[in-house]
Parts: sequence; C-alpha cells; structure tokens
Amino acid sequence: MTGYRIIEGAKLDARNTFGVAARAPMLVEVADTGALGELFGYAMLRDGPLLVLGGGSNLLFAGDPEGAVLALGSQKIALHDDADGADDGVTLVRADAGVEWHALVLWTLGRGLAGLENLALIPGTVGAAPIQNIGAYGVEVRECVHAVEVFERATSRVRRLTAAECAFAYRDSRFKRDPDAFVVTAVEFALRRNATPRLDYAGLADELQAMGIDVRAPAGVRPSQVAEAVCRIRRRKLPDPALVGNAGSFFKNPIVPAAMADALKSDHPALPVFGSGDPASRKLSAAWLIDACGWKGFREGDAGVAASHALVLVNHGAATGAQLLALARRIASSVQERFGVALEPEPRIIGARW
Ligand code: FAD
Ligand code: EPU
Repeated sequence: MTGYRIIEGAKLDARNTFGVAARAPMLVEVADTGALGELFGYAMLRDGPLLVLGGGSNLLFAGDPEGAVLALGSQKIALHDDADGADDGVTLVRADAGVEWHALVLWTLGRGLAGLENLALIPGTVGAAPIQNIGAYGVEVRECVHAVEVFERATSRVRRLTAAECAFAYRDSRFKRDPDAFVVTAVEFALRRNATPRLDYAGLADELQAMGIDVRAPAGVRPSQVAEAVCRIRRRKLPDPALVGNAGSFFKNPIVPAAMADALKSDHPALPVFGSGDPASRKLSAAWLIDACGWKGFREGDAGVAASHALVLVNHGAATGAQLLALARRIASSVQERFGVALEPEPRIIGARW
C-alpha cells in the first residue's frame, strides 16, 4: 500500500485553528490522490461517515468526528494547457487540494497572473476553497474557478466539475450542501495577465494610498500591491490563529428580504447594508449586529469574541468546542431577539447540530 498512511486515535488539536481538543478514530493521510480508489474500496471509508480535513480553519469540533478523517497532502501547482486552445488571454493554473491557499496566491502573483490577489492570506488549503466559495475584499473564488476535480464517493470515479456544476453562492456551494458526496482533489483556476484591479471594497483603495500607491489610475496598480494591501488590512483586523484560536468569521452575513433590510436601516441608520446579487434581498453586516448587542471583546473562561472584530469567536487557550458552540448560540439568540435576524454559522460544526 503506497500513497497513504493510517493513524488510529489521532489527536486533531493542532489540525484545527480554534485549537480545541478532538480525536479521530482513524486519520488517513493521503500523499497521492491516485491512492483514493484503493482506499475507498474499504467499507469504512466508502460507506461510513467521513470528514475531509484541510487546514481546519473553517470548522469547529464541538465533539469528535464519528468516522474516518481524510487529509490530502498532494502539493503540485502547474500551468495547465487550455483544452480549447483559444488565445483569450486566460492562463489556466491547476493546484492540488493539499496546497496551502496563500502559497498558491503567491505562486500566481510571482508569475504575473491576476485574479486571486484580493483573496491573499486566507488560511487553509486549495481543496477547501471551493467548498464555501471563499471570498474577501470584493472577490469570490468562483470568479476564477475554471473546474474542480473531484473523487466521487458513490462511484469511486474521478470527475471534473465545471464552475456552473459547483452551484457557487455566497459562502456556499454544492460541496457545502452535500459534504459527503465528493473529495476535492484539485482545482483549476482561470487567471489573466492583464486585469483591472478590484479596489471597490471599503478601505482597500485607502490602504493602497497609505502605501504610497496612486489609485487614481487603477490599471497601474499591480496585483501584488493589491495583495499586500489586503494582507495589511487583514493583519490589523483579524486575530492570527497562531496566537489565538479562531476560524475567521463565525457567522455568515445574513441575507434578508429587501423590505426587512429597509425597516432595520430606518431604525438603525448605522447598520451596514449591502447588495446580495438579488434585487429582492440584501446582505446585512453580522459583525455590526453582534457588536450592537455588546459582544465585542466578551470573554467567559477561555471562550470569547475578538476585541478587534465582533464576528470572530476566539479560544483564549483551553476552551472546548462545546463551550464555543454554546457562546455562538447565545450570540445568535441575542441578535434574533433584538433585531429579528437569524444568524447562521459559517464554519462546519462537527459532533453537534446548530
Ligand atoms: P477545513 O476547515 O479543513 O474544512 C472546511 C470544510 O471544507 C469542511 O467541511 C471540510 O470537510 C471541507 N473540505 C476541506 N478540504 C476538502 C477537500 N479537499 N474535499 C472536500 N471537502 C473538503 N474564509 C473566507 O471565505 N474568507 C475569508 O476572508 C476568511 N478569512 C479567515 C481568516 C481567519 C483568521 C481564519 C482562521 C479563517 C478564515 N476563513 C475565511 C475561513 C477559512 O480560512 C476558509 O473557509 C478556508 O477555505 C478553509 O480551508 P481549510 O483547508 O482550513 O478547510
Ligand atoms: N463591523 C462592526 N463591528 C466589528 C467589525 C465590523 O460593526 O467589530 C462592521 C463595520 O461597519 C464594517 C462592516 O462590519 O465596515 C464589515 O466588516 P468587514 O469589512 O470586516 O467585513 P465582514 O462582513 O465582517 C466579511 C467576510 C470576511 C472577509 C471580509 C472582507 C463574511 C461572513 N465574512 O467580513 O471573511 O474577510 O468580509 O471581505 O462574509 C471569513 O469568512 O471567515 C472571513 C473572515
């Protein structure tokens, strides 16, 4: 048996960015995705509960995973020939699921390719990027996803899904809605050498300006400069998981009917309201709603809310996943009670139901 190794009773404490204690009955580390066919011949992997684990930066272990945990280590990044051969200015890059996301962003920037710069410094792996259609600073990864290569558990076949087949939406996809169907083995990205930088997200142009970069002619701003500005903002706002456990935003920004958003805005003029992509609904700032309920900087034992950002739950040291989940429920209840808005967790919760 080559291409993988099995560890029984594996500790997962260092494999989740909340840093909470958890143990897997069986951890399968797969170095070569070619081994998946053989591995899924075993009933426990084929039919039992399975958690595919990347960097553990978007999940909360409220309990131990029930079944096997699969971690992909494959690390290749390569320029990929466009099958249709069209000279449309697009360069395809294929990256294995195990590649660290920010390493891929740097790799593409180093080759003069634009598209992923606004998504710099998001923790985690390439394989997880399509799961919740990662997004930041005005860009979602779906805009650059050409295809997603998957191993389909039901058939043991490798398939290539087009972006349309992935059904991407805000912090959502086919994979997030049906987490048991596929293991993502690689992602193909469509990137460009010449692209106008996306500087519309609040604060991004100001950050570039503060770096001494003239944003009046956006075409002159280099993708690597945009990435640097994004990194600077992120380092200021978001706690570093290496220093304090967290999974980024704990809740999605809620999408509500337009009439409800209008009513809330007239009662609370400071509430940030954004377009949702659908004229009938609006996206509200979950951070603002939570902040207004007084949670920012809250701490009970080692479970708390970041002092720098109300949307980020933090583990100050020895909080358990169950304690963090209990805090999340209290936060959501208070927002529901005060504003009538339901918050939904963004990370996947293992071992409990929301
Ligand atoms: P994991 O946490 O390991 O897994 C997340 C989910 O994806 C799980 O359901 C898992 O089963 C599934 N999964 C992982 N790999 C695979 C695979 N190969 N095949 C099938 N399923 C798989 N997210 C954003 O969108 N935007 C942000 O700006 C952002 N900022 C963050 C900042 C901080 C400080 C932190 C800690 C997190 C942030 N996140 C953000 C969340 C997180 O980084 C992303 O969701 C990231 O894509 C998760 O990657 P991961 O490898 O850690 O996934
Ligand atoms: N705000 C507050 N209080 C706070 C923090 C923010 O009131 O403590 C308000 C401010 O008015 C601010 C607004 O909320 O202008 C938006 O804040 P921010 O720009 O930080 O964005 P966000 O909506 O809180 C989203 C994503 C982040 C992503 C940033 C930047 C979600 C759930 N979160 O956060 O993604 O990095 O935008 O694009 O969509 C993640 O998904 O884990 C994540 C970190």
